[in-house]
Amino acid sequence: MKAFLTVLILLMGLGFPPALSQTLGPVVPKATGNPHPEGNLFMRINHSKLLLQDRNLTVRLGDRNIGASLKACVACHTSTDKNGQPIPINADKQFCSVCHEYVSAKIDCFQCHATVPEKKTEAFLIPKTSDSNALAAYLKETSE
Ligand code: HEC
Ligand code: HEC
Ligand code: HEC
Repeated sequence: MKAFLTVLILLMGLGFPPALSQTLGPVVPKATGNPHPEGNLFMRINHSKLLLQDRNLTVRLGDRNIGASLKACVACHTSTDKNGQPIPINADKQFCSVCHEYVSAKIDCFQCHATVPEKKTEAFLIPKTSDSNALAAYLKETSE
């Protein structure tokens, strides 16, 4: 009976209307590029393990051909402001901080790692705005 109730409560939780569940959890900024084949839930649960494992491969074993590059996360998951400029990915409410703020997790990665995409990967970024001035500024920036 207890197990049944737990399952019922879980299912009810999953069945929350989108508007309500949005107000319950952090609002994660949208990414560009292809989604992860493993799915969002897998990434939510496992991203820290993937990153830490692949960091060890690179830093300790010198292998740079890795799956979970922090540079790649930044390339696809950085948002742009209304002028088409990248917003640091660890700034308030940005991709690498919004959930961590929510669960009080702290990461030190960005003391060393860049918080905005490198110039050459910036082309990944599609301005998240419909403002044509911002779009023009963005195109000018990427063609420089
Ligand atoms: C090629 C682009 C790309 C790269 C590289 C990438 N992601 Fe993603 N990621 C996405 C897309 C697209 C989604 C789907 C969600 C969306 O549309 O915002 C996503 C979803 C996620 C989610 C789930 C978000 C949610 O709302 O549930 C997490 C967590 C995540 N990515 C972490 C990472 C991490 C950590 C890295 C680096 C190891 C990374 N991603 C690299 C494109 C990318
Ligand atoms: C959808 C929510 C979400 C997003 C987006 C997200 N994280 Fe996390 N992250 C968590 C949660 C929850 C934890 C704590 C539980 C865990 O370790 O998995 C965590 C933990 C971590 C940890 C381990 C911290 C520790 O002390 O063990 C690292 C490293 C990390 N995240 C890196 C990142 C990076 C880098 C990004 C951006 C590319 C990111 N996360 C985006 C939810 C998220
Ligand atoms: C004290 C500085 C420092 C800190 C803090 C740090 N790193 Fe790194 N990291 C490096 C250096 C140096 C390299 C190797 C050079 C490179 O490839 O960028 C590296 C490489 C990596 C790589 C492989 C290269 C790539 O493209 O991503 C990953 C993954 C990585 N780090 C993840 C993390 C994560 C996750 C954290 C936080 C939990 C973290 N690092 C914290 C300095 C640091």
